Amino acid sequence: MSKIILTGDRPTGRLHVGHYVGSLKRRVELQNSGEYDDIFIMIADAQALTDNADNPEKVRQNIIEVALDYLSCGLDPQISTLFIQSQIPELCELSFYYMNLVTVSRLQRNPTVKSEIQMRNFETSIPVGFFTYPISQAADITAFKATTVPVGEDQLPMLEQTKEIVRKFNMVYDDVLVEPDILLPDNKACLRLPGTDGKAKMSKSLNNCIYLSDSEDEVKKKIMSMFTDPNHIRVEDPGQVEGNPVFIYLDAFSKPEHFAEYLPDYQNLQELKDHYSRGGLGDVKIKKFLNNVLQEELAPIRARRKEFEKDIPAIYEILKKGSEKAEAVAAQTLADVKRAMKINYFDDMELIQAQAKKFSQE
Ligand code: TRP
Repeated sequence: MSKIILTGDRPTGRLHVGHYVGSLKRRVELQNSGEYDDIFIMIADAQALTDNADNPEKVRQNIIEVALDYLSCGLDPQISTLFIQSQIPELCELSFYYMNLVTVSRLQRNPTVKSEIQMRNFETSIPVGFFTYPISQAADITAFKATTVPVGEDQLPMLEQTKEIVRKFNMVYDDVLVEPDILLPDNKACLRLPGTDGKAKMSKSLNNCIYLSDSEDEVKKKIMSMFTDPNHIRVEDPGQVEGNPVFIYLDAFSKPEHFAEYLPDYQNLQELKDHYSRGGLGDVKIKKFLNNVLQEELAPIRARRKEFEKDIPAIYEILKKGSEKAEAVAAQTLADVKRAMKINYFDDMELIQAQAKKFSQE
């Protein structure tokens, strides 16, 4: 069986380092591993509109930002198909048929939908499109017969729901859909990077993100004002490592080589953590180290972005070509689905002849 990747992001803002360690970096590695027959990376504008119906301009403006972030991280349009969700009408058709296989109560139990409803204060005014987006996400994944979906841990319930739809469809109709596997980051710290303010999640509205496209100065400023252990007041005080965002970021980004280069007093992260816990290590020192580590990772990304920004029409052209290719693949799956559901009337010679016979006998 072919190995196929599908994944994507909502274009509601520039991508941040949480996206990077949680998924983007891995995608580039998977792409460069050469192990996949096809890779589809989707800018999920239609999904972004499910809770931004009154702000389509935000979504429109951010498509190019996300595309630039993709390319500057190393996604290569020669290998990975980059496309825009709304340009693939087949996804809507698939969603429409999958809706019959999912109950309202099952959607209400989806933990991601549940928490997002709370976060957005939708309460009783949940848009139907938003409520059903797990179904549309199942369409995104199955349209490409994806076997592997590299995403963050918050997407686990979406994958569960997709698997259920696949099983149900294959059981009720015919075995045409592929059950995908989620691929989570193996580094625990990368599962969900907290905000620079220590809040559980990076979010634009909380203003606690470090963006891939931030300048060197912006990154430094954000790191130097990061939340740490609030009880670590004097340098001599013992500090708390666990749950301390600076250390979580170091868990996600630092490598032993970084110590030799930027902080040769320590061999590795464990030694640094031990010293912090004992007391006698100031926050400024670890923040400066984190800044060096992060700048090293972000500098080449930033430089590539500057290059890509010089020819924006070419980026739209990449997305157009990608969308054409993606549509051809989705159309094939939709044809398989309609055949399995026996709603391919005009291609179904058996049906036409059987009906003809029935009426000729009357
Ligand atoms: N829900 C994803 C997010 O919030 C975006 C997305 C839409 C997606 N469709 C997908 C991810 C299909 C993986 C597979 O970022």
